[in-house]
Amino acid sequence: MSKQKSSKVPGFYKLSVKQRVEKLAEVAGVSAKEFEALLDLKTADLMAENVVSTFALPLGVAMNFVINGIEFIVPMATEESSVIAACSNGAKIARIHGGFTTECTDPLMIGQIQLLDVADVKKAESALMQNKEKLLSLANQQDNVLVGFGGGARDIEVRVLDSPVGKMMVVHLVVDVRDAMGANVVNTMCEALAPVISELCGGRARLKILSNLCDKRLVKSKAIFDAEKMGGDEVVDAFLESYVLASIDPYRAATHNKGIMNGIDAVVLATGNDTRAVEAGAHAYAARKGQYSSLTRYWKDEQGNLVGELQMPLALGMVGGAGSIHPSALLAKKILGVSTSQQLAEVVASVGLAQNFAAVFALSTVGIQKGHMSLHAKNIAVMAGAIGDEIETLATRLVEDELVKIDYAKKVLEQMRKK
Ligand code: MEV
Repeated sequence: MSKQKSSKVPGFYKLSVKQRVEKLAEVAGVSAKEFEALLDLKTADLMAENVVSTFALPLGVAMNFVINGIEFIVPMATEESSVIAACSNGAKIARIHGGFTTECTDPLMIGQIQLLDVADVKKAESALMQNKEKLLSLANQQDNVLVGFGGGARDIEVRVLDSPVGKMMVVHLVVDVRDAMGANVVNTMCEALAPVISELCGGRARLKILSNLCDKRLVKSKAIFDAEKMGGDEVVDAFLESYVLASIDPYRAATHNKGIMNGIDAVVLATGNDTRAVEAGAHAYAARKGQYSSLTRYWKDEQGNLVGELQMPLALGMVGGAGSIHPSALLAKKILGVSTSQQLAEVVASVGLAQNFAAVFALSTVGIQKGHMSLHAKNIAVMAGAIGDEIETLATRLVEDELVKIDYAKKVLEQMRKK
């Protein structure tokens, strides 16, 4: 899986960008030269329409990850300060008790074929079941490569829904997409099956499209967060009190899950995957019981340590899509060192858990602004006009004075320059 020597590099954050790249070359086996590859306009023009430029984001790495006993340095693309630091910190506390352990289902995606005007739903359902093997085989004829890699259509399920336009049947095609995200192959299969299915059922096929609620493609990550390192029993209790609100209240759950997605989206984006698909799946899954709730669960173990668990659907690809042509995504995947979509999902879920732990930990103790502001201070310093070494000096001063504000930053910068 990963080729990294250790993801724990003390003081990594204090190094210059150049030194960090050199360090990564040493510990993750990616040469400094490889970091120079950026998205060029020619490639960008292949990826979207009406392209006029490219849009860059910071690419950082989260440190300290141990997942199923293996070291990982995790690339993250994000514009939000404090996300990567918080994530690395969460992973650092988790590693005291061995890091993250994960479980993953097969990479099963669902495609939907909507059928209207089916006169006899029971008869239609039994016609489908009688022809299941034939239908699966027709689906598999659409993608020999996927079948060659051990994937392919696995099952057909039927749902009957009441709707304002009458009863409708929704046929689910379940496909093992292996290392693809799966949208293309599933959509192709659904479109190929739709005429045959409508013929068999005696109805009209309307939508033929993948579902982003891929609740058969689930991943679970679990970790123990050391009570002593957290600050003792009272802090664990404070954490649990904070968490419980997310478990019962959609207003808090939305923010709690947003924190999880801060980490998840950053890795999804860095590896060239579809953030919208992952977001849609995550939030639909969070509402699966009828009320929107937290994607994570927390409890105390017998030793008084905090145990956290994140379970969610993750439709991620290692092959195909932007991740196969965007040079930064190729670099990110090389740093990460995973080879299958399931391994990638296991890392991404662990990042989500580390991120969530770090946010709720901060919220239940010092509050979010303290840590956030010290990192945000650099942005404020730049916005106030600081350049070069001035940025660090001004940011430090703003934090010390507990006044991370643009007008104050401008005043201090002026004084600094007069000296
Ligand atoms: C901010 O981007 C994310 C948090 O609001 C998450 C949370 O409240 O748990 C800090």
